[in-house]
Amino acid sequence: MAGPVISARELSLVFQTADAPVYALSKVNLEVDEGDFVSFIGPSGCGKTTLLRVIADLEQATSGSITVNGMTPQDARLKRAYGYVFQAPALYPWRTVERNVGLPLEIMGFADSAERISRNLELVNLKGFEKKYPWQLSGGMQQRVSIARALAFDPKLLLMDEPFGALDEIVRDMLNQQLLDLWDRTKKTVVFVTHSIPEAVFLSTKIVVMSPRPGRIIDVIETNFPRKRSLDIRETPEFLAIAHRVREGLKAGHSYED
Ligand SMILES: Nc1ncnc2c1ncn2[C@@H]1O[C@H](COP(=O)(O)OP(=O)(O)OP(=O)(O)O)[C@@H](O)[C@H]1O
Ligand SMILES: [Mg+2]
Repeated sequence: MAGPVISARELSLVFQTADAPVYALSKVNLEVDEGDFVSFIGPSGCGKTTLLRVIADLEQATSGSITVNGMTPQDARLKRAYGYVFQAPALYPWRTVERNVGLPLEIMGFADSAERISRNLELVNLKGFEKKYPWQLSGGMQQRVSIARALAFDPKLLLMDEPFGALDEIVRDMLNQQLLDLWDRTKKTVVFVTHSIPEAVFLSTKIVVMSPRPGRIIDVIETNFPRKRSLDIRETPEFLAIAHRVREGLKAGHSYED
């Protein structure tokens, strides 16, 4: 596809509430190219989820413009251009793994579901767990089931809102490596929300540092690690320098607020 996967220009969003309006996003400019792995990082309440939801057409911007795959977010949603992974796995406990993964396909009446389900479970390393129920799986495995479900329609764009936020560091490390492997194998474009500096630096080709309310972009850092990378890169001077720059950006955002 020619052109950026996501292009946002001067995007602002104000929530009208019963008391005061909430300025969630302010003049956000963002470009995500095909094959990018972009992370949004920033303090709680800075608008990361809101920005992801605008991309997904679950929320509408108050002003500014945004395109997804060159279309309005609404058209992109109707064409199932993206898969969305929520912070909590949100699986149906009475459905087996394969029936959770197949749910979007079932709703749309897809005929070749079995093959897609099997391929997507393979991508998240859950072959052999088809007949298990969510409660028989660990938190990390449940989140992998949600990722497989988000891949149902083979979208080129994967939107992930703190998918590993609730998991311990060891499991998170493992899932980060598996996610990079999936990204490398499928060539998808990923937009990923996180609170974790090491996670953002390890995963991303582009790190978007956001300030507290109203959410603004204060720094965009491009990284240059090889697509196939191991956790060892976290010890390199390059990695530490980028982590430092993210930390400085987050600090600067805070002092601006005070
Ligand atoms: N539907 C809504 N109505 C009113 N205010 C909202 C709504 N949704 C979000 N907000 C507010 O907008 C701001 C941004 O929220 P958002 O959920 O995008 O933050 P976040 O960066 O994802 O935070 P966290 O890291 O805690 O998930 C917050 O102040 C939040 O309270
Ligand atoms: Mg959030």
